Amino acid sequence: MSVSSTQVIPESTDVPRHVVIIMDGNGRWATRRFLPRTAGHVRGVQAVRRVLEGCGRKGVKYLTLFAFSSENWRRPQEEVSLLMRLFVQTLEKEVGKLDEQGVRLRVVGDLSAFEPKLQGLIKAAEQRTCANDRLHLTIAANYGGRWDILQATRHLLRDRPDLAQNPDAITESMLSDRLSMAWAPEPDLFIRTGGEQRVSNFLIWQLAYTEMYFTPTFWPDFDAASLEAAFTWYASRERRFGRTSEQLEKSN
Ligand code: FPP
Repeated sequence: MSVSSTQVIPESTDVPRHVVIIMDGNGRWATRRFLPRTAGHVRGVQAVRRVLEGCGRKGVKYLTLFAFSSENWRRPQEEVSLLMRLFVQTLEKEVGKLDEQGVRLRVVGDLSAFEPKLQGLIKAAEQRTCANDRLHLTIAANYGGRWDILQATRHLLRDRPDLAQNPDAITESMLSDRLSMAWAPEPDLFIRTGGEQRVSNFLIWQLAYTEMYFTPTFWPDFDAASLEAAFTWYASRERRFGRTSEQLEKSN
């Protein structure tokens, strides 16, 4: 991570540099319309497009979307299959456009659980867009924050077995540099749609100082105006990073 909010105070701007979203409410959106839950996910993909465009217009540099958590395997088999098909179809259909728009696409999570075709498509899409820098779009798939901290710890001990005998020498950055999104700045703005107010094991390490925005709007209904409302709310926040308001005023 370029800057750790618990070590250094990062620069704050009115437009968040890194936005992360839990896209919740697809199932309820569909159920209220007497449609199968899967119809909500299909509509959810359209909302992804709208939000990506909105973030691009606004100058957001990093957009990270929670598409499938480690816990989502517990859903009915039919829904899991549809979600996988949607990922495959969306990747096949959208990667060319993303590339033209200068979007760098990455997928984070334990991808070993996905079928080989999907893993291949992900790799190809990441390679195709790897030189782009206008907007970094990351999809968290089979991702869990605890999994991420665990894999970083394992990675660290593999790289530095000596630390097992000298744990006091372990620093925050040794772990954060091995998290699966180590290349991104910490999130400035977290959005969760669908009315629930929890983090659900998403980026738990990185959210330490993130501004949290919750909206009852279901993800398929989340549009440009909803995104604008979240940005307006964010711009009104006083990001103190542990300091007092008085200290903050003096530093501005
Ligand atoms: C949560 O809604 C949503 C998901 C588990 C899947 C999110 C997937 C998409 C928006 C589509 C695919 C995205 C990409 C990037 C291709 P929920 O089903 O938990 O809704 P509920 O709480 O109303 O049941």
